[in-house]
Amino acid sequence: MTYKTAKFKIVGGKALDGEVKISGAKNAALPILLSTILTDEKVLLKNVPDLADVKTSFKLLQDFGKVCTYDVEKGEAVIENGITNHVASYELVKTMRASIMALGPLVSYAGSAEVSLPGGCAIGARPVDLHIKGLMEMGAQIKLDDGYIKANAIGSGRLHGGHIIMDKVSVTGTENLMMAATLADGITIIENAALEPEVVDLANCLNKMGAKIKGAGTSRVEIEGVIKLHGCEHSVVADRIEAGTYLIAGIATHGIVTCLNTLPSSLESVLQKLRQANAIITVDGTSITADMRNRQIKPVDVVTAPHPGYPTDMQAQMTVLNALSDGVSSVTETIFENRFMHIAELIRMGAHLVCNGVPSLKGAQVMSSDLRASASLVIAGLAAEGTTIVDRIYHMDRGYEHIETKVRCLGGQIERFY
Ligand code: UD1
Repeated sequence: MTYKTAKFKIVGGKALDGEVKISGAKNAALPILLSTILTDEKVLLKNVPDLADVKTSFKLLQDFGKVCTYDVEKGEAVIENGITNHVASYELVKTMRASIMALGPLVSYAGSAEVSLPGGCAIGARPVDLHIKGLMEMGAQIKLDDGYIKANAIGSGRLHGGHIIMDKVSVTGTENLMMAATLADGITIIENAALEPEVVDLANCLNKMGAKIKGAGTSRVEIEGVIKLHGCEHSVVADRIEAGTYLIAGIATHGIVTCLNTLPSSLESVLQKLRQANAIITVDGTSITADMRNRQIKPVDVVTAPHPGYPTDMQAQMTVLNALSDGVSSVTETIFENRFMHIAELIRMGAHLVCNGVPSLKGAQVMSSDLRASASLVIAGLAAEGTTIVDRIYHMDRGYEHIETKVRCLGGQIERFY
């Protein structure tokens, strides 16, 4: 029997035009959902996006003994109960790398944790050594056994404060250790911490739960451990990558797209590049508009970097824009060595890479290789002449809420089939 994966059929060549409401950020929702491990009390989360990875997080939490209720229409999730199990199984972790962020909260709350070594996007080796080293600095004993990371808080069963200097800036590493430190005995300092807005959102939520975190969003985060965290209500920050993706889709199709409910300050490096690409960008409160009607796309050199640099999660989308520009550009990926798998597929659509812009792309049958690569192929399909079939769109479903509905609202032609 042949297993058929979901595909998108996109008829390109139509300028996108309209408004799109941006959802809560996947990369903030996931750590925040896992942070509820740290309390027995009820946590009400708003602006939670309807994504495959969010559903995997609910399954993980349910496996741990939590009760999760999700109202898709309202985007609200309620997480209740204490945990009764501290094992994150391979079946769940293999589908979502971010499950590694259960490790810190589990060992901090329960004194022990077992988390399968992660899978997720196939973009480079993606080790978790920084997570492990940081937890060891806080008194966890760690063993790798049967493909599982087994962590124990030795002695009192409680982690202690530590002075952690991250060898490399890691987003989920910073988040994992920050969560673990909230219930540790004493003060933890994380140096060379990630500055991403999602780290700040997680810290805000944890502080509402009674944590004592200072300095989130800077490279030195200080966490004073407390005995207990309590319930809270929190609304997840807007998804800057989703917003950037729709803005680029508007620009690539020479249309005009307004993203509503965004946090413009989190997108500055992206907006700067979009202006260099010759788009008229206007910011009005929480709305961002990109107007590219009757304008030529200019080539833009991009080097990915940790926040506030240009995000690696927006690299593939920018590559499509460059492929459609009227000149030569370079795109340099510094975070993940293997994150250029969309290039081969873009070449199938007529792109000359690296990176000589062409006036238009041609529809083709292409294959998604990871979450953001799939976004770039959808943008390319919307901008191309003719029909594009994007296969393996399950990658896209991990990170883009209701993509077909949103693209159709903007006038794009996209449908899902099997
Ligand atoms: C997060 C984001 C992902 C984004 C990435 C970089 C989530 C759920 N995912 O992933 O969308 O693309 O940040 O902005 O928030 N590294 C190590 N050892 C470790 C951890 C990381 O060497 O223990 C390396 C990685 O291989 C990579 C770099 O550090 O080269 C940055 O990775 P990191 O910030 O950890 O990415 P994630 O947190 O996994």
